[in-house]
Amino acid sequence: MENGYKVYIKKDFSEIGIKKDYDKVLIITDENVKRLYIDDFIRTLDLKNIIYYTINPGENSKSIKVYEEAFKFCIENGMSRKSLIIALGGGVVGDLSGFIASTYMRGIDLIHCPTTLLSQVDSSIGGKTGINLGNYKNVIGSFYRPEYIYMNINTLKTLNSNEFLSGLSEVIKYALICDYKFLDYLLKNRNKILNLEYECLIYIVQKCSNIKIDIVKKDEKESGIRKILNLGHTFGHGLEKLGGFSHGFAVAIGTHMAFRLSYKKGYIDKAYYDKVLNIYKAYGIPITFDDINSADILDVMKKDKKNSFLKINLVLPTGHSALDVVDNIDEKEMLYVIEEVKNEF
Ligand SMILES: NC(=O)c1ccc[n+]([C@@H]2O[C@H](COP(=O)([O-])OP(=O)(O)OC[C@H]3O[C@@H](n4cnc5c(N)ncnc54)[C@H](O)[C@@H]3O)[C@@H](O)[C@H]2O)c1
Ligand SMILES: [Zn+2]
Repeated sequence: MENGYKVYIKKDFSEIGIKKDYDKVLIITDENVKRLYIDDFIRTLDLKNIIYYTINPGENSKSIKVYEEAFKFCIENGMSRKSLIIALGGGVVGDLSGFIASTYMRGIDLIHCPTTLLSQVDSSIGGKTGINLGNYKNVIGSFYRPEYIYMNINTLKTLNSNEFLSGLSEVIKYALICDYKFLDYLLKNRNKILNLEYECLIYIVQKCSNIKIDIVKKDEKESGIRKILNLGHTFGHGLEKLGGFSHGFAVAIGTHMAFRLSYKKGYIDKAYYDKVLNIYKAYGIPITFDDINSADILDVMKKDKKNSFLKINLVLPTGHSALDVVDNIDEKEMLYVIEEVKNEF
């Protein structure tokens, strides 16, 4: 596979094997990941000239301030065009490090080592990097391919259960967008997956990263098919912003809204609708909410940067693991399904 889509899925860090000669290697990580993995990681790399930079965990670190501080650290530590950045952490570390690597001296080499389920199945693949500007998510960013992506599956075992389930919501999304058999796999293997059995984790991460690679290869800059990856995201955006839901949980509730809308419009039947809700329930992933005003959710959707020409783009299911992107749904209909999903609380 060509540059940027090379993914290694392994049981530890031992095969990371950095072959090129770099004058300096900077690991960017966050406090939690540092505490758990940095010693082992540095020992395994066994290179001279390794330095690391630690950010606070959480979305707030995807800011201009942290970007600037990390940039200064790079300059003060003599990073050059022949240096390498390794992102060791979840999607926050990955998005920030990717943006630093893509802009430092017009771009230096980058390796992603994602350590959350969400970052392994989603954010580390596809080249999107970025930081936030206040409340505006990912508005500053770039498309930038890493040299490769190296995943140590066993890092998933230290995630807290909400982080794991949040990532699993994106895993379910892949089944819903293009692999109906995978949906059955997720139903059948629920216990093993929740017990973090190694074979299942490998299977899931492999399956999802392959699907994402396939899609982004066809449409790197998201002008067409890549949009289907946004299933549940447009509805979910408001919940994430207003309700403090994690990204994955907001996407699960948003996917419920999309399925409810499709079911009401007759695009999918009741059996499929029920099956999809059941899978979230089986894993204990939320599919409803209270306390947030439905009209406020719609407001956030209208401001979503993925809208084209002021119309709200929605990804809606049209059959078993089949979808369509539409922009002609009446706002009243959207508000109605948001209310319905809320009233199920
Ligand atoms: N670039 C893309 O295409 C893309 C796609 C989806 C999401 N994202 C971005 O990804 C970010 C979310 O990523 P995330 O869910 O990985 O969040 P995160 O990076 O904040 O990680 C979640 C938490 O888990 C901790 N953590 C990480 N690895 C751990 C491990 N192995 N063991 C224990 N704790 C660990 C982190 O310290 C953090 O507290 C968002 O900023 C989102 O915008 C980007
Ligand atoms: Zn997502």
